[in-house]
Amino acid sequence: MNFLSLIESKRDGRELEPAQIKETIAAYVAGRIPDYQMTALLMAIYFRGLTTEETSALTLAMRDSGDALQFPKDPRPLVDKHSTGGVGDKVSLPLAPLLACLGFRVPMISGRGLGITGGTLDKLEAIPGFTTALDLERIIATVQSVGCVICGQTARMVPADKGLYALRDVTGTVPSIPLITASILSKKLAENLDALVLDVKFGAAAFMPTLHKANELAVAMVELGNQCGVNTRALLTNMDRPLGRAAGNWLEVKEAVHCLEGLGPPDLQELVIAFAAHLLVQTDQAKSLKAGRTQARACLDSGQPRRKWDEMLMAQGANLEEFSRKLKLDHTAPVVRELSAERDGYVTCCDPRVIGEVVRDLGGGRLTKEMIIHHDVGVDMLVPPGEPVSFGSILCRVHAIDPVQADAALARLKGAFEVSELREEPAPLVERVIEM
Ligand code: URA
Repeated sequence: MNFLSLIESKRDGRELEPAQIKETIAAYVAGRIPDYQMTALLMAIYFRGLTTEETSALTLAMRDSGDALQFPKDPRPLVDKHSTGGVGDKVSLPLAPLLACLGFRVPMISGRGLGITGGTLDKLEAIPGFTTALDLERIIATVQSVGCVICGQTARMVPADKGLYALRDVTGTVPSIPLITASILSKKLAENLDALVLDVKFGAAAFMPTLHKANELAVAMVELGNQCGVNTRALLTNMDRPLGRAAGNWLEVKEAVHCLEGLGPPDLQELVIAFAAHLLVQTDQAKSLKAGRTQARACLDSGQPRRKWDEMLMAQGANLEEFSRKLKLDHTAPVVRELSAERDGYVTCCDPRVIGEVVRDLGGGRLTKEMIIHHDVGVDMLVPPGEPVSFGSILCRVHAIDPVQADAALARLKGAFEVSELREEPAPLVERVIEM
């Protein structure tokens, strides 16, 4: 294959053949195409785009670049949820055990946080002893016996995405709808799912800043997912405020456990129930979304998913005694400070971008992939838009490593909140559903 002429074709706006795309990905993974040439192709794709056929060929070639999960025959459908990421987004944590209790198998292969959005693996690693590094055999065995697993990609799964994403990250070619579609779906298709639900977030702290862009990405992924034989839907959800009342790895685990114990917070519970209900409908386990919601809520209320969570933790090496002890503590970070309201009124803004940046800079997130995370730092007791506050009441708490860091965070968080006399109705959490 003459790779230079292929780059030139794309650069000049010509369509690539599926066979050429397949050959390119195989050659790249085998080390026969240097990064500088692959970057040139990514840049050409970034500017010229890809047709639906090209995106499909790229996705399948990436999926097939390594191992896929092969599960034994079983009446329980294989399902998963993927989120494009947001501040305080811990939905996967309560959702996986809930889905397992609803009769699904859930091979939830997740990622780490980068920038202001947290990563599911980082959150789970705040649990004493919990391991997210499982091999293929253990992933399959855990899904078969427990019903769910949340872990990282193995070294042999979708290696093409690892290489391409690393190049995109440093060459300004991440925000390309076909490249994002191929990256996300190749990983999900390698799970061999029956149904997939996507949480495509839009707003101040989302990967897609506008509803329009989020819609474009969601439509592309839903179309291609269905074309590839996976019943795929997307929910466009609002990221103009943080999800739940806590952001930061350990604090989010704690909130996820509260959700499993029926203690809310309401927005987190709403999304968890919504995703479960959609998957029930997508797999014909519920006749309508209303019925699916009722089924999911009853299951959550039964306490079974809370016990399933412990089962998943044990299967992944967690020390449950230490975990329970840690859960009972008010805080695990050395310093805790409160931010108080300076007037009576209603919260009209709780800026998730500022909160995400503060959590990241406290050490709860990464600026580069190599940075070490402090699991116990973060922000909790966040008062969301629409809720009343009075002079001196808490707007949020900061959990930090030292007092200097805590005071700096408080000063920045002050700017994240607006309190007004008049209450404004917050925008709906789920803005739109994309299905075929
Ligand atoms: N998440 C992914 O997995 N891939 C992208 O390209 C963007 C977000």
